[in-house]
Amino acid sequence: MAIIVQPQDPTEVLHTARRPAPEAAPPLAGLEARSISAWFGDHKVLDRVSLTMPAGVVTSLIGPSGCGKSTFLRILNRMHELVPSASLAGEVLLDGDDIYDRSHRLVDARKKIGMVFQKPNPFPAMSIYDNVVAGLRLTGVRPARQEKDELVESCLIRAGLWSEVKNRLREPGGGLSGGQQQRLCIARSLAVRPRILLMDEPCSALDPTSTRVIEETMLELRHEVTIVIVTHNMQQAQRVSQQCAFFLASQGTPGIIVEHGDTAAMFDSPQDQRTYDYVTGRFG
Ligand SMILES: Nc1ncnc2c1ncn2[C@@H]1O[C@H](COP(=O)(O)OP(=O)(O)O)[C@@H](O)[C@H]1O
Ligand SMILES: [Mg+2]
Repeated sequence: MAIIVQPQDPTEVLHTARRPAPEAAPPLAGLEARSISAWFGDHKVLDRVSLTMPAGVVTSLIGPSGCGKSTFLRILNRMHELVPSASLAGEVLLDGDDIYDRSHRLVDARKKIGMVFQKPNPFPAMSIYDNVVAGLRLTGVRPARQEKDELVESCLIRAGLWSEVKNRLREPGGGLSGGQQQRLCIARSLAVRPRILLMDEPCSALDPTSTRVIEETMLELRHEVTIVIVTHNMQQAQRVSQQCAFFLASQGTPGIIVEHGDTAAMFDSPQDQRTYDYVTGRFG
């Protein structure tokens, strides 16, 4: 009697064997700014600002224009020092480790602490696919093709963009709508596996629908990356963040944090009159 052996599909075996083991996601990290002061030339723009940004939490930074929110954010990933006249004092600890310590390289801070800007800035002529992996040069790893495909897919899924672009990955990033471009920038940031994602008014150039999609994306991402977002939109701060810090620079003095803490509490029962005035729209 003949024994019937179910033939195995050789391509499938090959496929399984080649598939790399999924890398474990890096654990969530917290960020702590200690007594940060900042200057442009001799113009002091931040005065001894301290803030703990806990792991797995979205922290929002609010306050009127010019009070130093963007400067503070750029100090958190060592972008401030790129401005020739800029200087700073204080410490930034990523999981307890000072990113400004002399033993650390600038690129390490950038890798671990990603940034998404107000205006979406994909490489417009580069394909959607290549945009996602554009930051990998920084990390020095050169993944194999299949690994790269998987990374592109997973980052686009996490950035909430996959279903809209999966059939046009080779088209230029510049052909996407503003909201899609911003999600592409989020995917590009995620590809280098940052521990922290800084976002400087990421929705201020977007329509309400795109804004909502990005907010949903943020709420999902916070389980894998700690987020710090600057926003002018009080409703957005309440929708996306669990912790909030109110910055203020009154009458030419450097920026300080007037009040920080649980977002709901800050909006429902602010402790400081200036916070109350700001969150109720009396100025700013
Ligand atoms: N590149 C720069 N050169 C000189 N001054 C700057 C520069 N960037 C920001 N500033 C000044 O620093 C202060 C804080 O600015 P910024 O951090 O952009 O505030 P915010 O993001 O809260 O609007 C402002 O007085 C601004 O004019
Ligand atoms: Mg700003």
